[in-house]
This record gives sequence, C-alpha cells and structure tokens, in this order.
Amino acid sequence: MLLDPKPKSRADDLFGREDELPALKESLQNNPITLITGMRRIGKSSLMKVALSEIEYESAQIDVRKVYSDASGAIGKLDLALAVEKQLSKKSVSRKFKGFLAKVKGISVMGNTIQFDWGKATLSDILDKLNNYGEPFILAIDEAQYFRYYGSRGGKSIQNLIAWSYDNLENIRFLLTGSEIGFLYDFLGFSDYDNPLHGRYMNEIRLHPFKQEKSIRFLKTALEEADLVAVRDELEEAQALLDGIIGHLVQYGLHRIRKGHKEALEEALRAARSTLKSELAELKKRSPRYLLALQFIASGAVRFSSLLRAFQASGDSVSKSRVSDALTVLQKMGWIEKKDSNYALVDVVFERILREDSV
Ligand SMILES: Nc1ncnc2c1ncn2[C@@H]1O[C@H](COP(=O)(O)OP(=O)(O)OP(=O)(O)O)[C@@H](O)[C@H]1O
Ligand SMILES: [Mg+2]
Repeated sequence: MLLDPKPKSRADDLFGREDELPALKESLQNNPITLITGMRRIGKSSLMKVALSEIEYESAQIDVRKVYSDASGAIGKLDLALAVEKQLSKKSVSRKFKGFLAKVKGISVMGNTIQFDWGKATLSDILDKLNNYGEPFILAIDEAQYFRYYGSRGGKSIQNLIAWSYDNLENIRFLLTGSEIGFLYDFLGFSDYDNPLHGRYMNEIRLHPFKQEKSIRFLKTALEEADLVAVRDELEEAQALLDGIIGHLVQYGLHRIRKGHKEALEEALRAARSTLKSELAELKKRSPRYLLALQFIASGAVRFSSLLRAFQASGDSVSKSRVSDALTVLQKMGWIEKKDSNYALVDVVFERILREDSV
C-alpha cells in the first residue's frame, strides 16, 4: 500500500527509486560502508528496508532510536547486543546461516532463537565471527545519530568499531542512515578530522526529491489504489505546493482519504513545515552560517560571488573558503544543488519557509 505512514519494506510498495535500489544492492555487495543520505521524509528508511528484504545476503537491521527508547536513557553494550540478537533470531534468517552460527563459540542457537554469551563476547567479537561466514553480512543501522547516547563518549566507540571493521573484516558491510543533520554532521563527522570514520571511503546513495511529473504520478497511483478518483488539477496543486519529498505527498494522500482536497493540503503543508523547521533549527545549532547561506540563496544570491557579498553585507567577514565549506556541507546534505555555477534550493516548501522571517 503506497499510502502508509510507516517506512515501506516490500519492493511492491516502493514507488520509483528504479536507479537507487539496484545501486544500493550493488553497493552492499562491494563496499564496506554505504550511506543513504537525503532530506527528512525522502524515503531513506524505506529504501534501506526494501534493499535488505531483496538482497540475498544475511543482515541485521537496527533502529538506534528504538534501542535508545527501550534503554530509557543511555544505550549500553547489552542493549545493542540484544537488538542484534533479536534480528538474528528472525524467521527470515536462513538455515544455512543458523547452522553456521550454531557452531560459533559464544553463540547458542535454539530453534529460531539466537543467543550470544555476552559475558564473554563483545560486538567486535561477534562481527569478527560473522565475518568468517565467508559471505557478506550486512549490519544496517537506521537513526545512527542516536549513537550519541551510546556509552560514555558520545558514540565514539561505535565509530571506532566501524573503522576497525572497515580495516579488518572483509565480509562485514555497514549500511548507515539517519536523520540527516545529526547523522551526517555528528555521527559521520564529515567536518571533524578527529572522527574515527573521517577519511574512510563511504559509498553514498543520495535520494533526491521526485521531479514534477513523477510526484503527480505517485499521487495519482496512490490515491487510485485507495479507491479515490484523482483529479488532475488537485494533483497539480498538491505537487506545486508540496513538491517532491515523498513523505509529504504521502501525508497529503492520507488526509485526502478522509477530507477534501484543500483541507488535506493544509494538513500536509503544516506537517511538512514543522519537519523542515525542526531540521533548520538543528542546522542553526551547528552554525548560523548554514542558515544564512540558505536564506541568501532563497532571496536570489545564487552565485558564489553574490553569496560572499551577501555574507559581507550582513557584517560577517567570512573567508571564501569558509563560505565554500558551508556550501559543500549543504550540498552533501541534499538541501541545495549546484547547476552551471548557480546554487538552488531543492524543495519549494523549504524555499517558502526560508523567505519568511520566522526561522
Ligand atoms: N519510494 C517510496 N514509495 C512509496 N512510499 C514511500 C517511498 N519512500 C518513502 N515512502 C513513504 O514516505 C514516508 C517517509 O518515508 P521514510 O520513513 O522511508 O523516509 P525517511 O527519509 O527515512 O524519513 P526520516 O528522515 O523521517 O527518517 C513514509 O510514509 C513512507 O512509507
Ligand atoms: Mg528514516
């Protein structure tokens, strides 16, 4: 069902992503670390789940936000271990893999249930053992930014674990995603040279918003699937106001099942604005310059030279290289694109918010 508020997990329910899904599966075969990046609500978790359900390799998928909420406070070694154990106890784990696990010292298998001897084993031990399976094993981590609540050093030991696995365990693959700012900025530390993951190659699958026709086609298909007649004018208006982030389109569709077009559109816009605003607030916490750069672009300063002048006119005597760094970060996060030396915002809801004074 397309109009489902939860992430999709079946390929049949995944609309579009004809390029990204095969690219992700291919990446999991070949790269020790793969990232799914893109704006909030764009479909990162859905792509992760569908790829794992399709790929032939064994995997464990951990939602760190869930682990954090179950752990009520800080995440400890045991909380993480239990989450991995639970995943390996899934019915979908193959008999061959269970047979392999049964022979590993420190792991016991009873029917479908897998148990680690956590008194002796650490997660690095377990990964070391899983590496001996001889085929890729994928540890997929969603909401990775919640690792800041792991242990006493804000998740540094997890970053070290991933870095160590990258260097030593040829069959272990990490698939990482999360809510973009905390994930990219804090967890992966792409502007922090001390981060253990810094400098290691990570293959990135970037999700972009759908283009106009694709968004309209999605809404039409989703509404018709829910037995609603899709009126072209309404679809066009919904697309024009909500643009191409699929999570926002799903919100419209879900409201539209029960309400009229205008009301559904208002509700969806309200939700979209609140998600984007909270991400902007997160961004501002890292540096007010990111927000300024976005606002300058929204108000028409789209070339590098005009952006630099806009910063200087605002009283910020920032260097060229700092402005360039900020623009790189914003591009990496998928908030802006660069085409023919011009910077542009990727989403119209977001552009409207930035033009207002309220951020
Ligand atoms: N390709 C797709 N086809 C159909 N529905 C999708 C697709 N991608 C995402 N969705 C829907 O969009 C919404 C958001 O998807 P998802 O949770 O996967 O996004 P996300 O990027 O992980 O969001 P967040 O940043 O909040 O974690 C959900 O309702 C999901 O079912
Ligand atoms: Mg998600």
